[in-house]
Amino acid sequence: MSANRPAAVVVLAAGEGTRMKSKTPKVLHEICGRSLVGHVVSAARELDPEHLVVVVGHAAEQVGAHLADRYAGTRTAFQAEQNGTGHAVRIALEELGQSVSGTVVVVCGDTPLLSGATLTALAETHAADGNAVTVLTAEVPDATGYGRIVRDAATGAVTAIVEHKDATAEQRAVREINSGVFAFDGQLLADALGKVRTDNSQGEEYLTDVLGILREAGHRVGASVAGDHREILGINNRVQLAEARRLLNQRLLEQAMLAGVTVVDPTSVLVDVTVTFEPDAVVHPGTQLLGVTHLGEGSEVGPNTRLKDTAVGAGARVDNTVADRAEIGAEASVGPYAYLRPGTRLGTKSKAGTYVEMKNASIGEGTKVPHLSYVGDATIGDFSNIGAASVFVNYDGEAKHHTTIGSHCKTGSDNMFVAPVTVGDGAYTAAGSVITKDVPAGSLAVARGQQRNIEGWVARKRPGSAAAQAAAAAAEKTPEDL
Ligand code: UD1
Ligand code: CA
Repeated sequence: MSANRPAAVVVLAAGEGTRMKSKTPKVLHEICGRSLVGHVVSAARELDPEHLVVVVGHAAEQVGAHLADRYAGTRTAFQAEQNGTGHAVRIALEELGQSVSGTVVVVCGDTPLLSGATLTALAETHAADGNAVTVLTAEVPDATGYGRIVRDAATGAVTAIVEHKDATAEQRAVREINSGVFAFDGQLLADALGKVRTDNSQGEEYLTDVLGILREAGHRVGASVAGDHREILGINNRVQLAEARRLLNQRLLEQAMLAGVTVVDPTSVLVDVTVTFEPDAVVHPGTQLLGVTHLGEGSEVGPNTRLKDTAVGAGARVDNTVADRAEIGAEASVGPYAYLRPGTRLGTKSKAGTYVEMKNASIGEGTKVPHLSYVGDATIGDFSNIGAASVFVNYDGEAKHHTTIGSHCKTGSDNMFVAPVTVGDGAYTAAGSVITKDVPAGSLAVARGQQRNIEGWVARKRPGSAAAQAAAAAAEKTPEDL
């Protein structure tokens, strides 16, 4: 591998991508949690090049900032006007100081499915065959829009690449296309780029013309046919964007399944490249796993669940849930219909049940919040139970405050914990309480109006009503009837 270490990889990403019809530059559109250019840069890094240069132009500042933020170590070359792929590579070589000896690999920023393995294979073929240039090609079912590979009828050798717009009807019938990925001898590339002309239908400097130029000068021109044509799918519009997302998603899920994850219905599960799994995790239909999400061994997620940057512990069960930046402990139970917001940490065997929302809350081992509650800015100890329909009243209109509940507490249903407030270990609270003062460990807090029964009120105030008749009938019943 290191023997074939390229001197440079050049990523072409200066184009606007007009066909996307978007305010966002094409290469910053995302699939599976990563920008298009990010996918290409990640694959390029697998080659371990000495230099990695991205040619930026349209929305250069935005694309440059994105690269600096996520892909430290990539250099950018600025192409003020997009005068073609050949022009773009010329600018990249100028950025590198023009004296690049060794292999220069060129890839387009809009081919996100390209794998590092395919790039490595291309670099190996290029070196083994001693080529001046090696182009990665593929046979595709529909070649519309792509540059066609023209081969010598007798020898089969590649003689040129002809752009769709410049191709004859005969050439357009060719199904072998230029992927836009090349390995070049750096010196010969620089020389040939100086000879590229603009007398084509788009008035651009085509990188593809370098092949013909090198061949005519007597250099070796080679081609490497990709095993899977879908890998070189170039994104020009949003239909292709969705198709690439589908294919990459399928690839990621297949890797997970082969590593021991059950995906009940791969067509309804969306996954990002940064998601990791352990064996025997189960993913039910309608589930989206986004960002740095991890599913522990034997955990079960879904159906209809969206987890972003969330860790799910071994054996946990997460059903019909939305979670963002949450940590779900081993064997915990979440949902159905739970919403875990950033900073939620659920301990081992704990529970966030049905219609429960949590935020910035730490829930101890074995503690349960089973029904209809909001837990915000709170710490709850181990083995406590929070009654149904409780609210952690954390906001006074200006600032957020914290509630602390100890271990082995049993709080009643319909409690309001008006923060800042603390409930000590082993304490109980009565149903319907509004807890505004700290509750000492081991006590029962009752904080609600006393019940008063006004007997005979219905007979006096609602005489003749169905309620009065029912009350009268109840009064006549003997104790045995009751
Ligand atoms: C290009 C190839 C075509 C190939 C196809 C594969 C050329 C002339 N054509 O066509 O043979 O089949 O890719 O997907 O090379 N770019 C720049 N600066 C420019 C022009 C383009 O950086 O001045 C970048 C674009 O941002 C894009 C890439 O180069 O990432 C390819 O450009 P695009 O316009 O998409 O070329 P295609 O017409 O698809
Ligand atoms: Ca393209």
